[in-house]
Amino acid sequence: MKIIIIGGGYVGLVSAVCFANMGHQVTCVEQNESKCMALQKQHIPFYEPELLERFVDVHTNGNLHIQSAISPENFESDVIMLAVGTPMAPSGEADCSDLFNAVTSILTLAKQHATRPFILSTKSTVPVGTGRHIMSMVASANLERPVHVASNPEFLREGSAVHDFFHPDRIIIGTEDVAVFRTFQQLYKGLHTESRPIVHATLETAELSKYAANTFLATKISFINELALLCDKVGADIKQTAKLMGMDGRIGKYFLNPSPGYGGSCFPKDTHALQFIGASNGINLKVVSGAIHANNHQIDHCFLQLMALCLVPPTTVTILGTAFKPNTDDVRESAALKLIDRLLAANIRVQFSDPKAIQTTKAVYGDRIHAHESPYDAAKNSDAIVLATEWNDYRHLDLTRLHAKMKSPNFVDLRLIYSHEELSIAGFNAYILGKGMHHNTTISPPTDIETIQQSA
Ligand code: UGA
Repeated sequence: MKIIIIGGGYVGLVSAVCFANMGHQVTCVEQNESKCMALQKQHIPFYEPELLERFVDVHTNGNLHIQSAISPENFESDVIMLAVGTPMAPSGEADCSDLFNAVTSILTLAKQHATRPFILSTKSTVPVGTGRHIMSMVASANLERPVHVASNPEFLREGSAVHDFFHPDRIIIGTEDVAVFRTFQQLYKGLHTESRPIVHATLETAELSKYAANTFLATKISFINELALLCDKVGADIKQTAKLMGMDGRIGKYFLNPSPGYGGSCFPKDTHALQFIGASNGINLKVVSGAIHANNHQIDHCFLQLMALCLVPPTTVTILGTAFKPNTDDVRESAALKLIDRLLAANIRVQFSDPKAIQTTKAVYGDRIHAHESPYDAAKNSDAIVLATEWNDYRHLDLTRLHAKMKSPNFVDLRLIYSHEELSIAGFNAYILGKGMHHNTTISPPTDIETIQQSA
């Protein structure tokens, strides 16, 4: 089949490459000239496992074309997918102006050049009602050939997007037209099975299902993160608590990993957008608001625990992992960056390392923080290490070597990689999120968190 994908960002490019891999003829339209030129030179501006190799393959064999604008011959396509950004506006609402501008340009060109019907589908996460609005734009355009509107939300995770594309839990097609659904069945042929179904829904249900999934997962994380704070107080172990909860098949074991807070370009944006959609429809989504609130405060707790762990106020802190999660160089809304902001505001020197996100982190802070390729170099003369992102590279650190580099032996593990026992053997005082604080030294730690809070 022939398809056009509008937007060569994360969602658009991964989808374009994977559809082209499946044998479809794909054109990816990236209107930003410099990004478009970079893609034409086979340079991908972000890191995503498996993507570059596959991109080079399909771009070289001609299944994938990159263009900076949609052209008349593109209207031979069966499906046009909209994968442009829908960033968060200050109100929390998703800003769909780029998306609607793209629809306007497509419809204007289609009026002159479309010789056959085509499907216009959203792929980016869009507010409920967007598909219906696009239908009204199509109706006002008065085209000779029918344009069918659909919603096909993506569920790709950064860091495993290519794998997720080829192993979807479900493929959702929102459309009023059974023939449109059949076209999508052909488009995704080979990917859907009985256990990984392609599901026909209404436009509104398809749109809402994406927000529902992301917000539910975010809520699950906020729930376990709040329990981690409680575990610190009552002496329970959050890792085991989460494991025991997850053994209940009704709950499930996924997305119960405590963390310094969820980040990235999706959960923070989508939870706010759903809260906004609720409010605009007169529904106060209190659970969603609670999840957002808990997430906003998770890093405060981590910061205060770090300060409490250090027997002498730290002057230098090392952050291991700045990406919002492993296997990506994306630092948007990363909890590590929120912590860095807190440290810089307290005039603490920040040294950091990350396997892939050094450049993206430097793009945010310039030389206000100090980058090191090696975690051991990043630990030099530091008063505390904070393990903020659970990269595999940080799962087998030589703790004794790290300890030897440092000025003061403090270790904060916000991803529960290490045990108190192994950190203690290496000579560290440690705080593990949801597993409490252990001091190796004989000097008593400050216990009055309020005082620490005030001095920080
Ligand atoms: C998320 C969804 O998982 C995808 O299904 C969806 O397609 C995507 O958003 C999107 O809307 O485009 P992503 O943001 O790439 O994917 O990353 P996740 O793996 O979901 O992680 C998000 C955040 O939650 C990360 O900061 C991660 O560290 C945190 N997290 C995740 C936890 O704190 N605990 C967990 O147990 C799991």
